[in-house]
Amino acid sequence: MSELNPILAASAQSTEAYQQAIAQSSQAVVQWLQQPEMYQGKTVAELRERIKLDFNPQGLGNQAAIERAIEYFLKDSLSVHHPQCVAHLHCPSLVISQAAEVLINATNQSMDSWDQSPSATIIEMKLIEWLRAQVGYQPGDAGVFTSGGTQSNLMGLMLARDAFFARQGHSIQQDGLTGNLKKIKVLCSENAHFSVQKNMALLGLGYQSVTLVKTDRFARMDLNDLTEKLAQAQANGEQILAIVATAGTTDAGAIDPLRAIATLAAEHDIWVHVDAAWGGALLLSEKYRDYLDGLELVDSITLDFHKQFFQTISCGAFLLKEARHYELMRYQAAYLNSEFDEAQGVPNLVSKSLQTTRRFDALKLWMGLEALGQKQYAAIIDSGVSLAQEVAHYIMEQSALELVMQPQLASVLFRYRPVEWTAAGNDEIALLNQKIGDALLESGRANVGVTEFDGVTCLKLTLLNPTVSLEDIKVLLALVDKTAQQLLSA
Ligand SMILES: Cc1ncc(COP(=O)(O)O)c(C=O)c1O
Repeated sequence: MSELNPILAASAQSTEAYQQAIAQSSQAVVQWLQQPEMYQGKTVAELRERIKLDFNPQGLGNQAAIERAIEYFLKDSLSVHHPQCVAHLHCPSLVISQAAEVLINATNQSMDSWDQSPSATIIEMKLIEWLRAQVGYQPGDAGVFTSGGTQSNLMGLMLARDAFFARQGHSIQQDGLTGNLKKIKVLCSENAHFSVQKNMALLGLGYQSVTLVKTDRFARMDLNDLTEKLAQAQANGEQILAIVATAGTTDAGAIDPLRAIATLAAEHDIWVHVDAAWGGALLLSEKYRDYLDGLELVDSITLDFHKQFFQTISCGAFLLKEARHYELMRYQAAYLNSEFDEAQGVPNLVSKSLQTTRRFDALKLWMGLEALGQKQYAAIIDSGVSLAQEVAHYIMEQSALELVMQPQLASVLFRYRPVEWTAAGNDEIALLNQKIGDALLESGRANVGVTEFDGVTCLKLTLLNPTVSLEDIKVLLALVDKTAQQLLSA
């Protein structure tokens, strides 16, 4: 039977129910953290069979609803903190991030207007100012927290598109797309994130608008090819709306030559957006900050805190070098960000965001910086980068493992190749590696990425977790070996 008043409020009944529900949930989390398996190893079909939405019309009450969530969700969740959970840019989270979530959720502030989030609005704005200073941008508060990298990249590309048309005297915001759209292109490397393509489709220019620039042997944008693609575009009568550089490609962790790209783009008056969803973590690094050299020159930047900043999902940011470009997406809603308000300097962050209702995710970064201090934050970021180098060394010493790419950030790309398979083709090796990845997840013992790099199917370790050691990865690589042997003898 459900409680009489289910709303969180000041009454004794409500606060008691709140405390009980939170205590029951956090105790369940503590137990779940102790589960030895990385995953309970159920297949898609088994989970579909097991999870049933048979809602009780009378309601179960909080306690029973939480028990069911523990049984059907928590126990079969992936343990992102587990040392063998290294498939994706999917981080274990900070304890302080959990505390922040309690505050974010209970207060339920909405970042669209000052009158829905007064202190939160100011904290977010100050964090944007702080992030801009880390990048090396001029003082200011142009930027906003986002749901993550995809949305930040969308904002960068959208403003680049609208600035491009505005230079030709046309307002996209007012009049929509116009002209020979097939001649408008975006350049990014062949290793850029797929959200560039998806966002360009969303922006009405289609996948066809994305021209891929070749990469060098370290998976970075090749400057000669970029120069050539710019010349080709000119010869074809095409116009370049933006260059998207990546600081930390999803698989190889490669960082494009930001300064050189920005310099070249400036010669052609082209907007540069940097997708630093992953590599942006190096802003805090003591050892690797110089990898981001030139970031301060670009027009807009994607940062993502639910990657190597160890924040819970979701938490990202978009930074805009020149505040004037925000005019391109100006919209004043009488009930949220009226002219009257703005004339008085009331900060309504809906003016800077694609979202209207928006979570106060910025609190997680603020509390993270407060709790850890920059030194410890830097240490846990640097640790993954250093571990990747050690793991690569170890892999090179193993006869059945082949390092596919030298690590640059915290990922290692490699493949299993049986020593006796001297004549085996790429397809055979690819299939074996795909099967190794699948079998490991199915066993519940490890989650290793399977990806393709330069036409080679390989396994990927994304070593974000600062509590993971080389010994843990040796255990994982022994599992890879054992799984491969089992598959080969089956
Ligand atoms: C380089 C890069 N950019 C953008 C994204 C998208 O970020 P999000 O998943 O936060 O939307 C990713 C995701 O892995 C990424 O690796």
